[in-house]
Amino acid sequence: MTTNGLFISFEGIDGAGKSTHIESLAQAFRLQGRAVTLTREPGGTPLAEKLRAIVLKDRMDAMTEALLVFAARRDHLQQVIEPALAAGAVLLCDRFTDATFAYQGGGRGFDLTLLTALEEMVQTTWDGQAHFIRQPDLTVWFDLPAEIAAHRLSGTRAPDKFEAEPIEFFRRVAAGYLQRMQANPGRFARIDADRPREAVWQQVLDALQGRGWLG
Ligand code: TYD
Repeated sequence: MTTNGLFISFEGIDGAGKSTHIESLAQAFRLQGRAVTLTREPGGTPLAEKLRAIVLKDRMDAMTEALLVFAARRDHLQQVIEPALAAGAVLLCDRFTDATFAYQGGGRGFDLTLLTALEEMVQTTWDGQAHFIRQPDLTVWFDLPAEIAAHRLSGTRAPDKFEAEPIEFFRRVAAGYLQRMQANPGRFARIDADRPREAVWQQVLDALQGRGWLG
């Protein structure tokens, strides 16, 4: 059994349907004897969950939003992500920094250069020999047209602050994700989420099996 930690993030616009697949993947790794840490952003620690509640509810400008999600991320990295990876766990994270580039950068139009500076500042870590910027080993991106995601979300529950945004916002968010994938093609697995659930799951499995991470 490998003791190398594995960091996998899951991304997509609201309504893209990532949640059930994250659960299934956790189960698949556990069946192979791996320790799994299932977590999310913003959130994943008591402090970061408090920040999540504020970010998802209160109105604020884009910079405040970006600073709060990065503050939550800093705590999450220190308290949960780095220790889990050091212990050799598979860490499955529902959203990470690509969401900040997509939502605050794409959706809100916040300066990408500043986000890049924050990313570097917050995610710099030390592996005992050198500093590097912590990034997921793989980002599974559930790509779904904004119209279809909006249709799937409609009537399911009371929308939070982001879910209440107009469809144009989600088009910009989706474009933000695409831009991130194009800048880091090796890190991303694009999933065509506009398919039946089983076909979506198969694509997720293929991405993991293709990298030799799941039997
Ligand atoms: P989400 O992950 O969709 O959780 P749920 O399924 O419970 O709704 O909600 C998190 C929201 O936060 C989502 O709308 C995207 C937003 N978000 C940002 O705007 N920036 C970020 O950096 C992150 C991580 C999330």
